[in-house]
Amino acid sequence: MKTVKQVVFEVTNILNSANVAEAAANAEFIICTILGKSRTEILAFGSALFPTEKEEVLNSVIKQKIEGLPLEYIFNSASFLGRKFYIDERVLIPRPETEELILKTQKKLKYAPKNILDLCTGSGCIGISLALTYPSAQVTCSDISASALEVAKQNAATYKTKINFIESNLFTNLQGKFDLIISNPPYIKEDDIKTLSPEVKQEPRLAQIGGKEGTEIIEKIIQAAPKFLAPGGLLAIEIGDKEGQKVLQFFSRDIWSNFILEYDLAGLDRYIFAYIKEI
Ligand SMILES: C[S@@+](CC[C@H](N)C(=O)[O-])C[C@H]1O[C@@H](n2cnc3c(N)ncnc32)[C@H](O)[C@@H]1O
Repeated sequence: MKTVKQVVFEVTNILNSANVAEAAANAEFIICTILGKSRTEILAFGSALFPTEKEEVLNSVIKQKIEGLPLEYIFNSASFLGRKFYIDERVLIPRPETEELILKTQKKLKYAPKNILDLCTGSGCIGISLALTYPSAQVTCSDISASALEVAKQNAATYKTKINFIESNLFTNLQGKFDLIISNPPYIKEDDIKTLSPEVKQEPRLAQIGGKEGTEIIEKIIQAAPKFLAPGGLLAIEIGDKEGQKVLQFFSRDIWSNFILEYDLAGLDRYIFAYIKEI
């Protein structure tokens, strides 16, 4: 039998030979997840024996990782704002930039929202996180993809959140007024899809492509949102990293009292926050 430390070493070498990036970190993550232990525990108890009954699953995970499947799809789990969300190939894997979208949005809100819309919800990570932060708010999560909504419903059930799920092409099937409309829509340019890493290429195209320019869906959201925002309501959108100035031009001063571009932790264009006029 091998020790945990030996297995970490061997898996790192296998991933390295297969040109998997960040082989050591990936090896540790894989072994921690399979053993249900933290990294600290793995490092502290490296001389413990690696259970033989876990070898089959370990080999299967290594194979899938080398084939280019993201670990979130292999383990059906992604961490988002400290919570685990069920994830599979029907939805985009939640990103740290989107965690930041939520944190920034909370600071921009002038009052606790009563009605929230998470447009393009995917796994539901945004809407569910907000439902847990604002338990008395009525939260609606919508997506054009029925299969993405199944994943979001599963996550909402895990967190016992009461959410209104609607299958809709943007606002088509939606009604009512929201204090907050938040969205991480698809925003990758059609032509840029081929430049994505093999792992990112595994995610649904529908979740990625924002049109020829990458901003088409965002433009539609900005045009349609005013009808669905309560007076003074906030629109918060995640955008592509070079699109800030272009997206700002989609706003009209007649309708919006303020619209601002903000940056992610890497200093790149990433978020637009816009308030609709009070009257
Ligand atoms: C970038 S993913 C975001 C998923 C999730 N909100 C997140 O941040 O991880 C975009 C989502 O928009 C959905 N979508 C694409 N086009 C849409 C449309 N026209 N109307 C509504 N949803 C759409 C996709 O199915 C996908 O789930």
